[in-house]
Amino acid sequence: MRIAVVPGDGIGKEVVAEGLKVLRKVEEFFNVSFDFTEYPLGAEHYLKTGETLTDEVLEELKTFDAIYFGAIGDPRVRPGLLEHGILLRLRFSLDLYVNIRPVRLYHPCLTPLKGKENIDMVFIRENVEGLYAGSGGFLRRGTPNEVAVQEMINTRYGVERAVRFAFEYAVRTGRKKVTLVDKANVLTYAHDLWQRVFAEVAEEYPEVETDHYYVDAMAMKMVRSPEIFDVVVTPNMFGDILTDLGAEIVGGLGLAASANVNPEGIGMFEPVHGSAPDIAGKGVANPLAAILTASLMLEHLGLDEAAKAVERAVEKVIAENRVTPDLGGKLSTSEVGDAVVEVLEVVA
Ligand code: NAD
Ligand code: IPM
Ligand code: MN
Repeated sequence: MRIAVVPGDGIGKEVVAEGLKVLRKVEEFFNVSFDFTEYPLGAEHYLKTGETLTDEVLEELKTFDAIYFGAIGDPRVRPGLLEHGILLRLRFSLDLYVNIRPVRLYHPCLTPLKGKENIDMVFIRENVEGLYAGSGGFLRRGTPNEVAVQEMINTRYGVERAVRFAFEYAVRTGRKKVTLVDKANVLTYAHDLWQRVFAEVAEEYPEVETDHYYVDAMAMKMVRSPEIFDVVVTPNMFGDILTDLGAEIVGGLGLAASANVNPEGIGMFEPVHGSAPDIAGKGVANPLAAILTASLMLEHLGLDEAAKAVERAVEKVIAENRVTPDLGGKLSTSEVGDAVVEVLEVVA
């Protein structure tokens, strides 16, 4: 299988190296072989060449079975330039319209919430529309009368395919309930569309329970009663914000994995976290989010056994407290990667 690897910036490079170690071990046990091609996209490349992601590289990336991505973003570059030029451009150009972000508690000691032991929900974030569509502009920029407009785009087609994916995902993975999160009480056009589409699609899945929260109440409920959620479907921006909150209630960004997929095509797999300039280069970044992300990639490639083994290995290193400082451990990034590789030999 041909995998494009984009380590990116900051800790992206450090955690992807550990993910690759684990994938090489997977090759040994699961009768699969990966052909990795690395692309040095990110801040260094931009500062040297002025390029973010060229049309040529984009076309090349389309030919792979999957893209394994670290993180981008660098304090030396204007905010948004690399994020738009590389990450969002990839999501849009490859039409990766759903972002799957599991929020699963791997060990009771990881949650800051008192007495919560069962947290296992999956966010399905609409990934190419909403406030991310990039539609808008300035009027009279730089003057006291400046106007800045950023439009939220919701198409019937775009909303429906994301919502339908959430129901299909629930059925496929044996989950019982899909919760819609929106702000229809204020966004009376955009999220009215979401509510109507959700109700219509839900009728086709009578065996799946449905539920609804406004996004503000959802933030509260995720802290108060996270155990009640199963599959959650939500517009792009809310999905971005709520999944950082979701990460935090199960151990933090160092454990949060994500898959950008086009169910009919390619997938791009990246941890939820960013390039973390505050800890980059120190060897303390938690690589488990990137390793769990590799597990999501294996699942997407149809390698279910391997995906589960990697997840079990991560669970075991957490149980053994072989973790980085963010989880209260003393190990370095590469020591945690080594621990997962070692445990994989036992659980595979
Ligand atoms: P961030 O996710 O990089 O970091 C937030 C906090 O979490 C930091 O204190 C960081 O040290 C900590 N953290 C994150 N990942 C960690 C890990 N694996 N182990 C231990 N601690 C970890 O968010 P930010 O600081 O807001 O953004 C930094 C840059 O990353 C920005 O340029 C932003 O645009 C970009 N970003 C990129 C992606 C992506 O490429 N997918 C995602 C989010 C942010
Ligand atoms: C994420 C990130 C991105 C997003 C940024 C870097 C564009 O925060 O993947 O969660 O907002 O989607
Ligand atoms: Mn985010």
